[in-house]
Amino acid sequence: MSKSRTMRRLLLLLLGLWEAQSRAPSRPNFVLIVADDLGIGDPGCYGNKTLRTPNIDRLAEEGVKLTQHLAASPLCTPSRAAFMTGRYPVRSGMASQTRIGVFLFSASSGGLPNTEVTFARLLKDQGYATALIGKWHLGTHCHNNTDFCHHPSSHGFDYFHGLPVTNLRDCKPGAGSVFTQAVRVLVLAPLQALALALVTLGALRWLGLLPVPGVVFLVLLLLAAALLGLLLCFLHFFRPLNCFLMRGRAVSQQPLSYDNLTQRLTADAARFIRRNAERPFLLVFSCIQVHTALYASKDFAGKSKHGAYGDAAEEMDWGVGQLLNVLEELQLTNNTLVYFTSDQGAHVEEVTPKGERHGGSNGIFKGGKGNNWEGGIRVPGLLRWPGVLPAGVEIAEPTSNMDVFPTVAKLAGSPLPEDRIIDGRDLMPLLRGETQRSEHEFLFHYCNFYLNAVRWHPPNRDHAQSTSIGRNEGRSEGAIRTHHSVCKAVAAMPVNI
Ligand SMILES: *[C@@H]1O[C@H](CO)[C@@H](O)[C@H](O)[C@H]1NC(C)=O
Ligand SMILES: *[C@@H]1O[C@H](CO)[C@@H](O)[C@H](O)[C@H]1NC(C)=O
Ligand SMILES: *[C@@H]1O[C@H](CO)[C@@H](O)[C@H](O)[C@H]1NC(C)=O
Ligand SMILES: *[C@@H]1O[C@H](CO)[C@@H](O)[C@H](O)[C@H]1NC(C)=O
Repeated sequence: MSKSRTMRRLLLLLLGLWEAQSRAPSRPNFVLIVADDLGIGDPGCYGNKTLRTPNIDRLAEEGVKLTQHLAASPLCTPSRAAFMTGRYPVRSGMASQTRIGVFLFSASSGGLPNTEVTFARLLKDQGYATALIGKWHLGTHCHNNTDFCHHPSSHGFDYFHGLPVTNLRDCKPGAGSVFTQAVRVLVLAPLQALALALVTLGALRWLGLLPVPGVVFLVLLLLAAALLGLLLCFLHFFRPLNCFLMRGRAVSQQPLSYDNLTQRLTADAARFIRRNAERPFLLVFSCIQVHTALYASKDFAGKSKHGAYGDAAEEMDWGVGQLLNVLEELQLTNNTLVYFTSDQGAHVEEVTPKGERHGGSNGIFKGGKGNNWEGGIRVPGLLRWPGVLPAGVEIAEPTSNMDVFPTVAKLAGSPLPEDRIIDGRDLMPLLRGETQRSEHEFLFHYCNFYLNAVRWHPPNRDHAQSTSIGRNEGRSEGAIRTHHSVCKAVAAMPVNI
């Protein structure tokens, strides 16, 4: 009798041990890698045969590949706000009502409000070491240059090294200008008009046809000088004032240099992992590539089959590999959830006047960065956690970059904020095969402030459907297009070199 009871106890104990084993290990580390403007048609594991991304592909082989992973917005600033908070950008106010939907100037006030809770803040509260290395693009200051109210350090990141704003063509000498068209409209056109007026009035006066008073000439000349001064100031000050790196709250390089930039940031990310190998950590590695200005170090320049874009993408992949190697070396691989995505689809309009493509590929999908066609929002989504997530599995259910927030929070043992709506859903049941269906019945696709489309995943059907709100609300197709073009105008900012 007592013998069989002991046996039963032993069995139960073993069963309990086995159960504990098969449960997810608690509190993993997180390495969340976000590429900038990388298209879903770029990585090898999503079907590209000529761009070499062996390290990103490794994540797919060793983890889960999401084939319907969607960015919450087709633009950097709102997409990143959604990623950080698990909420649609309209909820946090990070959705513009005007054409410009992203921060372009370091001196802009505004940014991710302090009332928003990022996953970094939740994890920091759980004792995680937290770092963001690379691009932030969610604001810096509120009132003056000492408050840092929107800076990563005010949003839960212990350590920050990178770009407070974003990479821009204007930041790299010789790479062209994002502001060419704006400068042309705001400065060159009025300057030409003023010159024409001066010449015409001068001629009229000289011919004695019109007695133009001298003061008119003086005013016109002053106006022209002021405009010219503005133009020169822009050319002279833009790079130092807008293109700089920060380490923590201090400026560390101004203007920034592109020399070995990926190496420098990757090495810093590796150092962060090494420093924190003994405690749980969160690293957001927010790649500066493959946004223009494109750059690549000597080892990668001219090596790919896809010009400057391919070089940059392949170097970025190298950076991913470096981080995976450090995890391996420190034996942290099995205790680290690695996530890879892009903040939105490839910027397909980025073609230089010489015809060189500086934007990536969205594969079979129409559209790209700046619009809500599938190519603008369907992004790579890879998650690897050996021993916990299956390897080499593909999941075609609709998921969002907002899902990272509740997933990471739950794994770190943090409760979710209860005073607000979180739009993301925990990915773990889907990733581990405990459920076959995404919890998103609806996904809303905004362009800036405007709702373009709703994706409906009916609970009783097999496949997701998309529907445009225009049709549902009886609006004309034209209304939908207007909204598309509002957003598109932002991304399709002048791309002239
Ligand atoms: C900057 O703004 C903050 C918040 O309004 C204020 O507390 C602080 O005194 C200001 N600092 C300076 C130097 O003006
Ligand atoms: C970039 O890295 C290479 C190889 O590590 C090195 O030889 C070169 O001096 C570095 N360039 C700069 C500007 O730091
Ligand atoms: C692979 O990527 C390059 C660079 O974005 C692109 O030009 C090419 O079309 C892609 N190939 C496929 C099959 O998508
Ligand atoms: C990591 O997990 C994999 C998959 O479960 C396993 O094969 C491997 O032995 C583990 N490695 C270590 C060092 O525990």
